[in-house]
Amino acid sequence: MKKTDILIGLQWGDEGKGKIVDVLTPHYDVIARFQGGPNAGHTLKFNGEKYILRSIPSGIFQGGKINVIGNGVVLDPLTFKEEAEALANNGIDLTKRLFISKKTHLILPTHRILDVAYEATKGNEKIGTTGRGIGPAYSDKISRNGLRTGDILNNFETKYTAAKSRHETILKSMNYHYDIAELEEKWLQSIEYLKQFKLIEGEYFINQSLKKYKSILAEGAQGTLLDIDFGSYPFVTSSNTISAGCATGLGIAPQNIGEVYGIFKAYCTRVGSGPFPTELFDETGYKMCEIGNEFGSVTGRQRRCGWIDIVALKYSIMINGVTQLIMMKSDVLSHFDTIKIAVAYKIGSNITEEFPSDFYENIEPIYTELPGWKSDITKISSENEFPEELNLFIQFLENELKIPIVIVSVGPDRKQTIIRESFNLQ
Ligand code: GDP
Ligand code: IMO
Ligand code: MG
Repeated sequence: MKKTDILIGLQWGDEGKGKIVDVLTPHYDVIARFQGGPNAGHTLKFNGEKYILRSIPSGIFQGGKINVIGNGVVLDPLTFKEEAEALANNGIDLTKRLFISKKTHLILPTHRILDVAYEATKGNEKIGTTGRGIGPAYSDKISRNGLRTGDILNNFETKYTAAKSRHETILKSMNYHYDIAELEEKWLQSIEYLKQFKLIEGEYFINQSLKKYKSILAEGAQGTLLDIDFGSYPFVTSSNTISAGCATGLGIAPQNIGEVYGIFKAYCTRVGSGPFPTELFDETGYKMCEIGNEFGSVTGRQRRCGWIDIVALKYSIMINGVTQLIMMKSDVLSHFDTIKIAVAYKIGSNITEEFPSDFYENIEPIYTELPGWKSDITKISSENEFPEELNLFIQFLENELKIPIVIVSVGPDRKQTIIRESFNLQ
């Protein structure tokens, strides 16, 4: 039996997962999403084109591979239709090779409204969600009120009407005014559109593929620090974004998980509210945002920026069982004289190397400083061309994290990717 490899974001999302899944796709037979929904925005750049994927896995561009949307995903048929149609207009027909688990839960129009309504009641405490209905859809799943993709094949209207009416009661009790007529009409059309895709028993497909020794790459969405259990709760998303989520989100037994690729930016970003110990509020942070073009691919919101955080990375590596590391956006740091790396936190009079679940407000990062490389690395094609200071930075991180950095990304394009000799593909 072949094992499934997983790619997981180690920070607060937007690490560059989409780009690397696309780069690794030629090495795999199947690419699968296992959690999240259209809150994700995964950017791919190649041949001068840019694509942003939300629910569709990032393995659709290279080599006609099978892509799977697993049971752990929450699917908005409308966003899905928009995404699939845009791809079809670019000559990529997915109906034959995108399979959707019948057990994925549907995001209803009223889930989107509820998401926005709940945020409105939180005022200053708001999470800063993407407003895509993610929380309400997962809440319905857990409270056993959800609708699944498989439901569209059987007496759907009755089930939909019941769910919608339940949501309407909640919204009425909140005195929240909304109009979903237009949204609902489009959404219902997209349910029909969805029917041309292959709806499958995902867990059987995945396990039979592994038995046939097909290789699978599972594509994480969001990041470890947004995980519902281990992230900075309540400023998190509503799914398990960690490697364990792949087992429940696809139906894979834990012993059938192979490599866990942990992906991180050479610095750190976060979009939405919540703690961010190394966040910069000064000129340096502004510069990172400008050079890194740190604006959300889904909401367009400016991402908060800060230095890389080893405490958080060690925590994420531990939770996920990371076996190989991938470092992104190294080119953005080319513009800084000095690079700071948080190696511990000072909380009150205590110094800790553990990521706390509380006291976020009072965290003061303790930094090590390394010299910047101050040269353009966007055009290099091999690790032999790394400037000495970049080598030092990588060595420092590998020493601290005890895991090899096997891929270094030096620009947004597919080609701007340095696969190091240490990369181990089973
Ligand atoms: P994802 O959600 O993890 O797939 O990441 P996003 O696509 O939301 O955000 C990553 C952003 O960084 C996108 O705009 C990518 O095009 C861009 N990107 C990815 N890798 C690199 C890199 O190495 N250098 C630079 N400058 N940009 C990158
Ligand atoms: P990718 O896959 C970055 C953040 C939101 C908000 C919190 C909860 O592109 O890395 P939600 O809509 O999920 O209920 O919002 O999580 N968030 C992300 N931040 N990248 C993402 O996905 C995100 N998906 C959700 O900004 O703070
Ligand atoms: Mg993203």
